[in-house]
Amino acid sequence: MIGDNLLPLEELDSVYMDRGTFFGDGVYEVVRSYNGKIFALDEHIQRFENGLGAIGIKNVDIGKIREKVVTAFEKSQIPNAKIYFHLTRGSGQRRHDYTGDFKPNFFLTVTKLEDSSKYKKGISVITHPDWRWKRCDIKSLNLLPNVLAKQVAAEKGAFEAILVNESGYITEGSSSAFFAVFDKKIHTTPLKDNILPSISRKFVIKACGNLGLEVIERHLKPENAKKADELFIAVTTKDIVPVIEFNSIKISNNQPGETTLKIAEEFLKFTT
Ligand code: PDD
Repeated sequence: MIGDNLLPLEELDSVYMDRGTFFGDGVYEVVRSYNGKIFALDEHIQRFENGLGAIGIKNVDIGKIREKVVTAFEKSQIPNAKIYFHLTRGSGQRRHDYTGDFKPNFFLTVTKLEDSSKYKKGISVITHPDWRWKRCDIKSLNLLPNVLAKQVAAEKGAFEAILVNESGYITEGSSSAFFAVFDKKIHTTPLKDNILPSISRKFVIKACGNLGLEVIERHLKPENAKKADELFIAVTTKDIVPVIEFNSIKISNNQPGETTLKIAEEFLKFTT
């Protein structure tokens, strides 16, 4: 039955039997373009390939996926685009194990990127327990803990939920990497601490290198973060976003920090 429509299983479109829907059994990517040029596509494709490997989806021609992304983007003629794509293990009757042959389902959209200039003035964030699994390095379609945390943030008038693990340490945002600045040194969670290997994070670190700013990969507790000189998050769709309020505590005089702005400027040089 789909809604009120009762029909034989054989007549059901296979899209309803997608393991992505039943189990979140697939991986996804979000890529963006700046003024007609896709940013860091190789890095995103590599992470996608790693994710497929990690969940045992085999025989995917990654070159073809790349081609599909580029073709769809070019056809869209959207200069500042958000390119979303996912691949699920395939469709079949609902059964947890996946022995047998599955034909992966691929899905892609190209949409106009939301104007993120309003966020550049600074956002507020709240902390939320990190309820996710132990393989957050995989960009899997299972995003319920992220969704729930983000909604709590939204209901509290904050833009992002900063996730805190069971040991009391910050991991990352519900959909962003997290950074703190102390004494012009940049602190961010080590990749081994069960976070997504964010592409923006990688370019933030590169930008810091160009600026001669030290990056310290260590985990922070919320009580440290609230005392930071500056805080910011980074995510593909919005690059660097200053955080000016952390659990209702004002950060860097409630305005974007100087070091954050420098890093943001340096970051943008990679995108041209
Ligand atoms: N999210 N951490 C998490 C949990 C994320 O979901 C994301 C991105 C990031 C930042 O990764 P990147 O720099 O590669 O975009 C970090 C995407 C954009 C999303 O789910 O929409």
